[in-house]
Amino acid sequence: MRMGILSMTAAAAALALGLTACGGDSGQTTTGATAEGSPQQKAGKIGVILPDSKSSARWETADRKYLEEAFKAAGVQYDIQNAQNDKTAFQTIADQMMTNGATVLMIVNLDSGTGKTVIEKARSQGVVTIDYDRLTLGGNAAYYVSFDNTKVGTLQGEGLVKCLSDKKADKPIVAYLNGSPTDNNATLFKQGYDGVLKPKFDSGDYVKGPDQAVPDWDNTQAGTIFEQMLTSQPKIAGVLAANDGLGNAAITVLKKNNLNGKVPVTGQDATVQGLQNILAGDQCMTVYKAVKKEADAAAKLAVALAKGEKPQASGSVKDPETGKDVPAELLDPQAITIENVKDVVADGYVTKEELCTGEFAAKCTEAGIQ
Ligand code: BGC
Repeated sequence: MRMGILSMTAAAAALALGLTACGGDSGQTTTGATAEGSPQQKAGKIGVILPDSKSSARWETADRKYLEEAFKAAGVQYDIQNAQNDKTAFQTIADQMMTNGATVLMIVNLDSGTGKTVIEKARSQGVVTIDYDRLTLGGNAAYYVSFDNTKVGTLQGEGLVKCLSDKKADKPIVAYLNGSPTDNNATLFKQGYDGVLKPKFDSGDYVKGPDQAVPDWDNTQAGTIFEQMLTSQPKIAGVLAANDGLGNAAITVLKKNNLNGKVPVTGQDATVQGLQNILAGDQCMTVYKAVKKEADAAAKLAVALAKGEKPQASGSVKDPETGKDVPAELLDPQAITIENVKDVVADGYVTKEELCTGEFAAKCTEAGIQ
């Protein structure tokens, strides 16, 4: 499948003609347009590419939903697709979106290299880009919307310290299951938790255990990696897992060894699975990122850009590769433990119905979930 024919000329022609037809056709496509909005203002179309649906439940259950709601409310045309962890498909989708008249492209890159190619092509066609959640290093997107990702890591590190001290762990061996080496966020999360844990390793309070990155945040590979870690180091006493999916992979292995609940595991994303692992006592914490706020902030920028405006971002981040500042909106993450798991439900991020099923009903009541 070569999309070379949909090259710049075709896309530029489509843009010039003002074509705004929706192009997607797969099950993972959501397109929409409403009749609302001022008729005299001919807004362009917004294209969004999500990364996959397996590395975290968030992309399909939260990001897609909230972005769709925001675009519908603004009455703009949009097309949301998921690249399903396929870098070639990612570029093809971007090309198709531009051919079909997208004037704003919002991407969650699969790695900076392919993300950069997409951004550069968009730029050459006058399409404005927004890095959504993950910064594309060297990409120079027009905007970046995310959470304070170093703080996410700091909360994970602090969470693990608290759980280990609650368990009165003595010189615990701590293992790291880091996110994908090609995701700049994974680098930032690690900077955050290293900032908390490295001083403990240096002082001898903790012992540094195995430390490995999980390619593409692949949960299955994470299980294999953690199994090997535990075999080589059976005394692992704490696991810094970078998200709920990796955390669950570690918990599954710990369960087989009757170590679940004894060895604290961290997470991120406040997924139903992560929260249920917390309710069960198998996961010590997760990090809740209010994706609705992230989606709303990104949609606000995208809608303004589609209308030809030049919106101001509240801050900026420095792209370590180019040294340039990228205008940015960075939101605040929140640590979640059994104490405040109810906050995630109260915020509407997960429902009581999906969380408090079967054996979790009683635990939900105990945790004060209404
Ligand atoms: C996101 C996390 C997510 C991970 C895997 C990261 O870039 O910030 O929320 O868990 O990717 O999809």
